[in-house]
Amino acid sequence: MATLMRYEEYADFDWNNLGFGLTRTDFMYKAKCTLNNTFEQGQVTDYGNVELSPAAGVLNYGQGIFEGTKAFRGEDGRILLFRPDQNAIRMQTGADRMCMQSPSIEQFVDAVKQTTIANKRWIPPPGKGSLYLRPLLIGTGPTLGVSPAPEYTFLVYASPVGNYFKEGTAPLNLYVNNEFHRATRGGAGGVKSITNYAPVMKAILRAKEQGFSDVVYLDSVHKKYIEEVSSCNIFLVKGNVISTPATVGTILEGITRKSIIDLARDLGYKVEERLVAVDELMEADEVFTTGTAVSVATVGSVTYNGQRVEYKMGDELVSQKLYKTLVGIQVGKIEDKYNWVV
Ligand code: COI
Repeated sequence: MATLMRYEEYADFDWNNLGFGLTRTDFMYKAKCTLNNTFEQGQVTDYGNVELSPAAGVLNYGQGIFEGTKAFRGEDGRILLFRPDQNAIRMQTGADRMCMQSPSIEQFVDAVKQTTIANKRWIPPPGKGSLYLRPLLIGTGPTLGVSPAPEYTFLVYASPVGNYFKEGTAPLNLYVNNEFHRATRGGAGGVKSITNYAPVMKAILRAKEQGFSDVVYLDSVHKKYIEEVSSCNIFLVKGNVISTPATVGTILEGITRKSIIDLARDLGYKVEERLVAVDELMEADEVFTTGTAVSVATVGSVTYNGQRVEYKMGDELVSQKLYKTLVGIQVGKIEDKYNWVV
């Protein structure tokens, strides 16, 4: 894809004010399958509403998972996708946890490519953002009792996006919430289940009302280890060591997270995946978050139990070095020695 596709046409659109809102694009991909079968060959159709049975598994029992991946436009017009195979693998793991059929890795990657190409005029110009692809797998068949739906739909839609946070690239102010938890042991916090997101909206809204950017959640057992931010993983830097919570079932295995771990190790940092106490967060030199939507976002302050700590800022931040390296690879400016870009 990277070497073949060069498209210079653009939708008539104000590319200078992109945030992370939904912009209707032209096409989406759709495929169906019945329980215990493989997915039919999907097709790209006009973007539009999906008709559902009122008894659909996704509506009644939350049987649904999603992914997020991005297409970038390089300076030379090339269209580049970042590690869609990793999203495909993660969708399979999530589908297994939620007792759903899932598309093959090949079908998933092909669907993402087809959706990207069909919506190519919506890929922002270099430096203005990216095309966010949202693969969605939902139980569409009817089920009244609590059981796997008899039919599944795999969809991919797309929207051009800019920065996830309204702060843009300015440092985030995070609030540590010890009342609401994002995930519990044995739950579905480690996969990208749709059921992980509505329960944190109350915490996000409350934090935003108080002027914070987002929320850091603590583990639900000890209430002292940090887990995740609502839509992204979290890292802290102390000296030459970068630490992030280990993915032990309550933490999403972010694709940006693992890419950043690899990049950081190659840049000479020691990276630890382990239990990270909230007290360490408060004593860190630097804090940052990672995610597909978020990319790498620098944290300016964290507030916990009424105490606010501010982190060092400036051009020399580890998070900035990692951000520039990651984005450089994603847009084809930095050599991709990892073969991440397709
Ligand atoms: C992503 O980073 O792609 C996500 O899925 C975050 C989303 C909840 C906005």
